[in-house]
Amino acid sequence: MSVPPPVALVTGSARRIGAAIARRLHADGYDLALHYRHSQDAVQALAAELESRRPRSVLTLQAELSDFDRLPELVARTVGRFGRLDALVNNASAFEPTPIGTTTPRQWDQLFASNAHAPFFLAQAAAPHLKASRGAIVNLIDLYAERPLARHTLYCMAKAALLMATRSLALELAPEVRVNAVAPGAILWPEQGHAEAAKQAMLERTPLARTGTPEEVAAAVRWLLAEASYTTGQVIRVDGGRMLAG
Ligand SMILES: NC(=O)c1ccc[n+]([C@@H]2O[C@H](COP(=O)([O-])OP(=O)(O)OC[C@H]3O[C@@H](n4cnc5c(N)ncnc54)[C@H](OP(=O)(O)O)[C@@H]3O)[C@@H](O)[C@H]2O)c1
Repeated sequence: MSVPPPVALVTGSARRIGAAIARRLHADGYDLALHYRHSQDAVQALAAELESRRPRSVLTLQAELSDFDRLPELVARTVGRFGRLDALVNNASAFEPTPIGTTTPRQWDQLFASNAHAPFFLAQAAAPHLKASRGAIVNLIDLYAERPLARHTLYCMAKAALLMATRSLALELAPEVRVNAVAPGAILWPEQGHAEAAKQAMLERTPLARTGTPEEVAAAVRWLLAEASYTTGQVIRVDGGRMLAG
């Protein structure tokens, strides 16, 4: 009897880093549940690309992750379609400035929804299936989970919560399920724009003197999911050394 392929649920996977993670895992033989929110055209194009390589290997799942009641459904539909779950990648993320004096409770809710609340409850829904498959979770955090970014307090707080969830769930779900995080540095600039001077300043503080690529982030995610069999509760920084440079 043939061994069934491993199955991964990747949030925010239509574009950018999420799509690179999806391509990497699919190339490694994973069947995929591709979650998206608004990027329907992009996710359909990605699904068609992947299915042209391996038919019936992809499911697309639309959801606003702040619709918290729907989170267990994403896991249930993945398992319903593929019969198992081996990996959860919490990649989807809201990012915006929240300068003190202008920040609203609604921004708090939005930034925490995708960066902390949904990853935790997706992990909770996924845990029994991941235990059964001896699977793993990877959370996409940020070097700003551990050091502040001015005018972005809520984003930093939400990623710090996800870092602690990574460590705490690594303890709680062991020994069956490993839980780790990847902290990218400057990979892709935010689509809402980033001042040229700020980009330059960031690169000057990056020992490897360039931005990283989505594929370099995806390679770390893949390693943590598929190969890092004695690693849990850890953060892999894919930041060109920027954490060292202040
Ligand atoms: N880009 C970087 O250089 C960088 C640096 C440090 C850390 N990171 C982390 O790496 C991960 C990927 O980064 P990225 O720049 O590729 O992310 P991104 O493009 O900013 O966001 C990824 C996806 O998240 C989804 N999303 C956002 N809010 C959502 C919500 N409330 N409900 C459902 N989906 C939601 C969006 O899906 P739709 O498009 O379908 O709406 C979006 O395409 C993120 O966790 C990010 O924090 C990235």
